[in-house]
Amino acid sequence: MSPRQAARQGQRSAAREEAAAVVRWGISQGLPRAAVRFAALRGDEVAKLLLDPARPDARALYDGLRRRGPVALPGAFGAVLGHAAANAVLRSDSFGVGNSELPTAVRRLYARATRGRVPGPTEPPSMLVTDPPLHTRYRKSVSKAFTPRHVAVLEERMTATAARLLDELGTASRFDLVDRYASRLPVAVIGDLLGVPPEERQRLLRWGDSAALLIDPGLTWRQYREADRALAAFADWFLGHLRRLRRDPGDDLLSRLTVLEGDDALDERELLSVGMLVLGAGFETTVSLISNAVALLDRHPEQLSKVQGDPGLWAGTVDEVLRLDSPVQFTMRVAYEDSVIEGVEIGEGQFLVMMLAAANRDPAVFDDPHTFDVTRPNAADHIAFSSGIHYCLGAGLARLEGRVALRMLYERFPGLRVSGPSRRRRTRALRGFARLPVTVPKSPARQFVTEAE
Ligand code: HEM
Repeated sequence: MSPRQAARQGQRSAAREEAAAVVRWGISQGLPRAAVRFAALRGDEVAKLLLDPARPDARALYDGLRRRGPVALPGAFGAVLGHAAANAVLRSDSFGVGNSELPTAVRRLYARATRGRVPGPTEPPSMLVTDPPLHTRYRKSVSKAFTPRHVAVLEERMTATAARLLDELGTASRFDLVDRYASRLPVAVIGDLLGVPPEERQRLLRWGDSAALLIDPGLTWRQYREADRALAAFADWFLGHLRRLRRDPGDDLLSRLTVLEGDDALDERELLSVGMLVLGAGFETTVSLISNAVALLDRHPEQLSKVQGDPGLWAGTVDEVLRLDSPVQFTMRVAYEDSVIEGVEIGEGQFLVMMLAAANRDPAVFDDPHTFDVTRPNAADHIAFSSGIHYCLGAGLARLEGRVALRMLYERFPGLRVSGPSRRRRTRALRGFARLPVTVPKSPARQFVTEAE
């Protein structure tokens, strides 16, 4: 083939990939986005909520919606707001993640546009978007490599990483908490989980951002294209990495998954999907937990004093942050058959926005639900990690990470204050900070103390 022919062929295949990307975006993002915009224009409050990424006043918004009852069905989109109702839906076989709910023709078109392409964190075989029996199989395999014992091993490395990051901050008196700390600890933990050598971890930061973006529904074409390209780059790198681990397995989650045998064995595509999911579901969410916590503690210095005076309160503080400023604000489910939830009839095919953040402020479960109280006895009853079969697989790890990150941060910098202007991420389902500048008064560093269990 002449160089000119080769160039032409390259152009044609680039154009084909661009067209396939438009189809993928249209079906997975563009059409739902248009439907939500249309419903919002017609005054649908649930749709308005889905469209508004800023949401400065969560309290008024959720209380307003809650007045419609535990399940609000004002239009095309239903919203589940009550704690008991959300638990009931998330634990029921009558509802699912609804990946097969698209009309057959659309499904075929989508399948063609995704042929030969790596699946993202919200595409099968990702656990997050598969129903049983496939979900049961993936979850069983991954859980085997993700036991509490393995999580405990990560604690030691996590503590060492947090100490190093704080050392690197040295005597800095002003820094962006997200950039210098809240994002670097989770990326190191995910690097450990996936067996990524330290010198290659920096790249995970950018890919993690993109993977998290793809979890957010209704992306614009530009956002989608950027995230999609970044994930293709991640997949290229990941497959090479997987081959290295197969030759020389380490003591990490991914190496343990590569050696599973029999019914539990995962093929290359499934392993890639686990990698994508861990990066998409486990990175930005934990960054948000840490930064949301610092923002809340800053606004409530009396609560900060309490936990600084009694480090045993850090575990409860992490749950109270997850409850009050949930990193995952909502998820989606579809009704597979007619059902009744908390006295409300829900018809087959109904799309439901599961408002985890609203359920976490349900006054029937949490006294004075809008108050931030680090000693709240039932803070851990929140459903920030969802409920039922998709309950977050990384919940134990995320709680541990939150505790270690916050305790060590405030022990090193007891006088740390947020010193705006901060900026929230422009995502809808994920709620966290893109930027959170903090200042540290010049005072001698404190020694770390051991957390009381
Ligand atoms: C504060 C941090 C985190 C929050 C708030 C969070 C939240 C969630 C939520 C709400 C779901 C379920 C979504 C649904 O029901 O549709 C979920 C699923 C999942 N999370 Fe997390 N997550 C966090 C951290 C992590 C970490 C650190 C990891 C792993 C490293 C992780 C791995 C997963 C996986 C694999 C699933 C899919 C489980 C399934 O579908 O069976 N998450 N997470």
